[in-house]
Amino acid sequence: MRGLTVFFCLFVGCHVAGASEKTIMLFPEPTITDYVILNPTQKVLKQMTVCLRSYSDLTRDYGLLSIATPDKDNAFLIYPMPPNNISISINNEDIYFKVDPEVLDWKSSCVTWDSETGLLQLWINGKRYPGRITRTRSPISPQMFVILGQDQDSFGGKFDVAQSFVGEMCDVNMWDYVLPDSLIMAYLYNDNNVNGNTFKWIEGKYRAKGSILVSKNRFYPK
Ligand SMILES: *[C@@H]1O[C@H](CO)[C@@H](O)[C@H](O)[C@H]1NC(C)=O
Repeated sequence: MRGLTVFFCLFVGCHVAGASEKTIMLFPEPTITDYVILNPTQKVLKQMTVCLRSYSDLTRDYGLLSIATPDKDNAFLIYPMPPNNISISINNEDIYFKVDPEVLDWKSSCVTWDSETGLLQLWINGKRYPGRITRTRSPISPQMFVILGQDQDSFGGKFDVAQSFVGEMCDVNMWDYVLPDSLIMAYLYNDNNVNGNTFKWIEGKYRAKGSILVSKNRFYPK
């Protein structure tokens, strides 16, 4: 019962508590000039977790979050392929997950990876998809460009308009460890108190380029 109550509070209360300061980014149209550069703590990633929320009506492939290093343009990539496929790349290795068809609503996604075991996990909304094991076991090197809304085909650039994100994004957070399931579930249920340790959305260390509209708390969410 106690657990239920706590869960209920997370679900109903916390997004209200944090809602007034929530920054949302609107990517208005397909282009190669709209993107956001994040400025995370640069360090070797032996493990990682990335969580973000997105809302799009695209029916083609698009890059949500792309990490390139000088020698690997897909050091890490979250690349939905609607309606029900999503590619996660680690060290240029592409792993596909069959996922539930996209619905027209906000989507909360988390990806975790551990270079020692190779375990790659994808969570979308309340659901964890069957885990995968990557062949690559090298940590991701610290010099990185982290970009929202485009797929980097070179270090920090070479975007393709056909892979650009159109829609809204918020709550992007990154960790240099595998976040415990309980915190992932809290994040997925819109708890705004789950903040990354290498990148924290609420600290706002990013630069939005092009015609992206950055605004506070527009009709988000539910
Ligand atoms: C996802 O797309 C890849 C690349 O086109 C393909 O190889 C794979 O079979 C697809 N998976 C599903 C579940 O559609």
